[in-house]
Amino acid sequence: MNQSGRTSFATKFGAVLATAGSAVGLGNVWRFPYMTGEDGGAAFILIYLVCVLMLGIPGMISEFIIGRHAGSNAARAYRRLAAGKAWMLIGVMGVLTSMIVLGFYAVVAGWCLQYLYASLVGQLSGDANYVAAYFNDFTHNPVMPAFWAVAFILITHFVVVHGIHSGIEKVSNLLMPTLFILLIVLVGASCMLPGAWRGVDFLLNPDFSKVSSTVFLDALGQAFFSLSLGTACLCTYASYFSRRTNLAKTACQIAIIDMLVAILAGLMIFPAAFSVGISPDSGPALIFITLPNVFREAFASMPIVGYIMSVLFYMLLALAALTSTISMHEIGTAFFHEELHCSRRIGATIETVVCCVIAILCALSCGAYKGLSIAGRTLLDFCDFLTAQILMPVGALATCLLIGWFVPKRIVRDEFTNRGTTWVKVYGIFLFIVRFVCPVCIIAVFLHQAGVV
Ligand code: PFF
Repeated sequence: MNQSGRTSFATKFGAVLATAGSAVGLGNVWRFPYMTGEDGGAAFILIYLVCVLMLGIPGMISEFIIGRHAGSNAARAYRRLAAGKAWMLIGVMGVLTSMIVLGFYAVVAGWCLQYLYASLVGQLSGDANYVAAYFNDFTHNPVMPAFWAVAFILITHFVVVHGIHSGIEKVSNLLMPTLFILLIVLVGASCMLPGAWRGVDFLLNPDFSKVSSTVFLDALGQAFFSLSLGTACLCTYASYFSRRTNLAKTACQIAIIDMLVAILAGLMIFPAAFSVGISPDSGPALIFITLPNVFREAFASMPIVGYIMSVLFYMLLALAALTSTISMHEIGTAFFHEELHCSRRIGATIETVVCCVIAILCALSCGAYKGLSIAGRTLLDFCDFLTAQILMPVGALATCLLIGWFVPKRIVRDEFTNRGTTWVKVYGIFLFIVRFVCPVCIIAVFLHQAGVV
């Protein structure tokens, strides 16, 4: 329990690991490498770093302030802080956004489970054409993608119903270190391949000729997605933080862990891809079509190592996805539990049922039922676009405006500095960024997307 009588994470370390678990996910191991591959390597990484520093960290602190101060689910937290019902809508929008994200994210996480199974039983060992056809056949199957997506949500449900301490914190304390160990093993094996240095060079030597305005947009969107910003996730987790937690320091620690995992994921994928001369710019298909070929060719002389690498890699993906789906699920669980005055178990069940329906529709839209499309995109692509490019930035923008302009400054300062005891000197910089820099940058991105600038 924290001082206000609300359940809380048992230790500071547990709180950081659970929140870092939300941030670390498919965004780091899947989205970040394929975007880096498409957007020019190190130049993209540098811009991404600036986005995390200038927009991501202040955005995280803002959500933390709202969540910890209110000590409730996101919808109630936004209403409490601004004393206005209209702000509650931002919280409700965060809850809805997280449900849509969980729906489509579980589909990709389910693909990882299928690939983990396929690696284990040796189904991925054919040539390049076979691997491409395997992905196509699987995603067009009317049953299997939906089955794995629902299975993933049920595993998530199982963790979340056990509560904050016995469920979320315990599982994060176990999964996060496991994830790091898997990652280090895979990076080591990849960097020892002949010619691997070309991949390291691609990641560490910026080529600014590739930088265009789209690269800035991609980097900003990726920063929001990767730090779980704008979905009320950080706000919900912060409601379980202790009053003594230093919010700014915690945000920096999580951003560093998140960045480190993303760079390590790059160091795992690019050296192996370059060592066999496969281009890493194949977009979202990178890990499901390109990588099985990389594993096969890079370890052609030692197939058993290729087999182990492939199993460990898809296991890593599934675990990373799980720590994130747990956090998405908790947003809705807390919301239903507190707003409908039902038990946590029933709240979690409502969240699970709704997300399973979204996930099944998204899974079917990828091939089995092409009719499930909106504005020329499959439902899965549409949900990804709607959340990452529209709802999450709008949520982050509203949060910054709320903290910067509408919440009484005394509350913001007290939460940021833990009542004047820590990080007092940086408070002014934080407030300036949240009031001016974040809103201007996010609005600029929207105007650019709309073709106005
Ligand atoms: N940050 C997660 C990732 O990088 O995979 C994705 C995510 C988690 C988005 C939680 C939204 C959320 F609420």
